[in-house]
Amino acid sequence: MQPKLLSLVCTVFLGLLVDDGLRSLAEAREFRLGTAVSMMPFRRDDQYKAILAREFNVIVGENCFKFDAIHPQRDRYEFRDADALVEFASANKMKIRGHTLIWHNQLPEWLKEGNLTRDEAIAALTNHIETVMGRYKGKIWAWDVVNEAIDQAGDPQHFREDSFWYKAIGPEYVTIAFEVARKADPGARLYYNDFDNEAKDEKSDAVYRLVSELNQRKLVDGVGWQMHISNAFKIGKEHRDNIRRLAALGLEVSITELDVRLKLPANRDALAKQARTYGDVMRFCLSEPNCKAIVLWGFTDMYSWVPQTFRGEGDALIFDRDYAPKPAYGAIRESLSKLTPGLSR
Ligand code: XIL
Repeated sequence: MQPKLLSLVCTVFLGLLVDDGLRSLAEAREFRLGTAVSMMPFRRDDQYKAILAREFNVIVGENCFKFDAIHPQRDRYEFRDADALVEFASANKMKIRGHTLIWHNQLPEWLKEGNLTRDEAIAALTNHIETVMGRYKGKIWAWDVVNEAIDQAGDPQHFREDSFWYKAIGPEYVTIAFEVARKADPGARLYYNDFDNEAKDEKSDAVYRLVSELNQRKLVDGVGWQMHISNAFKIGKEHRDNIRRLAALGLEVSITELDVRLKLPANRDALAKQARTYGDVMRFCLSEPNCKAIVLWGFTDMYSWVPQTFRGEGDALIFDRDYAPKPAYGAIRESLSKLTPGLSR
């Protein structure tokens, strides 16, 4: 048996024996499995933090790196929470994703209501990216430089027209953001992140065109697929076709915000189906060489954005409200433990 394969077999076997979480299984195959972190339990709940470090090797701030949180006033940045996450990641040898620099949501009043001229808006974007990326230079694995700039119903190139940045600067804001980001931390992986861009269709075509152009100038490294999905989701040819055309450009993909929401109350069948959906997405990512990570948008149903956002839906994550692993946890574990040839990486 080859040494690498032998070590994988041993680690998986030991992992199953001592039950030390998904993280060791992921690491045995050099896979990145992550979660979003909510600051409230992070500050108050030791069990939450213990699970984070045991189960995952990537974290992302659910809100604390966003513009309104980290740059609440024109001349004031607030780094306390983001610093705490970066320290936690480093103490626990985890990678950290930075989410997100330029987005149309969660912007501070001073920016939205500031009547900025185009030049002032470009200066604000530049200052923000340079300051935030500069502070964490060398410490952030991947940055979602721009989030959700493409909209199916947008302008001829499908840019989202109701975005503050589009209105203030024009569609060039995306390229400008990537140019500034590349200079600010040349070692960080730079991502364009969006929702509903997994399947090969009109929206992902627009994303593809955008990242192709950025890529010609070596300004982008990957595309983030948020994947806030429901149980109806199934991986199909349209997902493989899309990830492979990105691979052909030399771009990686990370699944950046995975959750699988259920109609409430969820019964056993729904939980079993949810497990299959998580397993399906895991196997897909493990089998596509340019799929670099799966990051869940939280891990316990106690803290999830779903119930506030999708009426009547919830229970979207892999631990229940009491931190008991759900069937979905078992499905991820199983897909990580399988020694299927071609799936090892
Ligand atoms: C969500 C957070 O989970 C919520 O706590 C917050 O109130 C709103 O934003 N796409 C994204 C994420 O890129 O940043 C969003 O996170 C979920 C949708």
